[in-house]
Amino acid sequence: MSSSTARDRGSARVRPDRRAALVSATVGTVAAGMVLALATAASAGTTLATSAAEKGRYFGTAVAANKLSDSTYVGILNREFNMVTPENEMKWDATEPSQGQFTYTSADRIVSHAQANGMRVRGHALAWHSQQPGWAQNLSGSALRSAMVNHVTQVATHYKGKIHSWDVVNEAFADGGNGARRDSNLQRTGNDWIEVAFRAARTADPSAKLCYNDYNTDGQNAKSNAVYAMVSDFKARGVPIDCVGFQSHFNSASPVPGDYQANLQRFANLGLDVQITELDIEGSGTAQANSYATVVRACLAVSRCTGISVWGIRDTDSWRASGTPLLFDGNGNKKAAYTATLDALNSGTPIPTTPPPTTPPPTTPPPTTPPPGAGCTASLSLQTWTGGFVATVRVTAGSSGTNGWAATVTLPSGTAVTNAWNAQSSGTTGTVRFANVAYNGRLTAGQSTEFGFQGVGTPPAGTPSCTAS
Ligand code: XIL
Repeated sequence: MSSSTARDRGSARVRPDRRAALVSATVGTVAAGMVLALATAASAGTTLATSAAEKGRYFGTAVAANKLSDSTYVGILNREFNMVTPENEMKWDATEPSQGQFTYTSADRIVSHAQANGMRVRGHALAWHSQQPGWAQNLSGSALRSAMVNHVTQVATHYKGKIHSWDVVNEAFADGGNGARRDSNLQRTGNDWIEVAFRAARTADPSAKLCYNDYNTDGQNAKSNAVYAMVSDFKARGVPIDCVGFQSHFNSASPVPGDYQANLQRFANLGLDVQITELDIEGSGTAQANSYATVVRACLAVSRCTGISVWGIRDTDSWRASGTPLLFDGNGNKKAAYTATLDALNSGTPIPTTPPPTTPPPTTPPPTTPPPGAGCTASLSLQTWTGGFVATVRVTAGSSGTNGWAATVTLPSGTAVTNAWNAQSSGTTGTVRFANVAYNGRLTAGQSTEFGFQGVGTPPAGTPSCTAS
């Protein structure tokens, strides 16, 4: 059942029964080359792209424009991949080397190659602290903000309709334990720079999926919690965001996290796509192969994980070539990591025909009699790290239901709320009140809803109080 579902959904496949009929009908009547073409088209599951397509996903790679004249490189690219990401050619320093002067020659070469060969394009990256042209590095304040909006608008407009997904903002959060934004000239223009970039990108190219992309966010940690809080807030406030990219650059110091799949899933549960955007895993042999298989299986187990891109083709093409982190060796031969990746793709879960609901419906607890007269109750759960936390508060209506509610949380001295979602917060320190927003105020008797907030400092202890209206 599931394999026929996968076959039915795919685009470039021929059913085995039809394939046999087609081949026998054509043998002897057409040139051998034609038969070969049919056989190749029918061999679903023998390349990364076809195997991923069987599971409703794409399989991509970073591409460098100056390698498009290398026949080994292009041979592998065209055979194995159906998504490309320009490795450097769409970055700010490449596309706008002087302010207001846009150069698209190298990026256009990659896009043309992709289009001519039936591949999609991930755009990378519109707004980023790194690889900025010198003139932008020297700007600040409103001049930089306007330059950024103009850059996003111009580049997204140039490629309008040609981009599957844009990395609108790349790497905006700091490493380390406090879940803070990364300091950069863009961040110093104001905390809203990210949503401003997303809104500009949506206006310029409404059909591209808009992604936030980062590294060290592959497992649950302070940094990914902060991204999670931002994305939740964007969804609650209607800031246009469609996907989160997980770069997934791994090595022995930063291996595939044990909660990789769970982390992808919790982002997907926010109601957006997740993508593995820059996968490479330093190492060799079986250990490397197993890590690749783990990543592929995790993506296939998350229905909204829509595709995987590796960050280059051969080890020698890699930005960290000495770690031999890719699927093909320097001669273009398939490595053990390639075989493990292909096998994992071929044995993985297809996207279910009816995907599970993106936000679980509010659950009705068993009929424990709510305390008489209580309008609502609230309970709090925490994810903590040194210096900060994310709190999830569950509000449950009493016997009369609610038209609206407010939960009050008392914070320890020195603790502050930095962000809240699915609720309107008043105040940031001391006693903080969180009131319902338009869509979650009305609860029937016993029904629950959840909101969340992020904070710095010591997490709150105790049960929040709740009042209903
Ligand atoms: C890297 C490229 O691979 C290199 O060629 C370049 O010198 C530096 O950037 N995260 C990203 C990518 O989002 O853009 C980076 O690409 C790798 C890390």
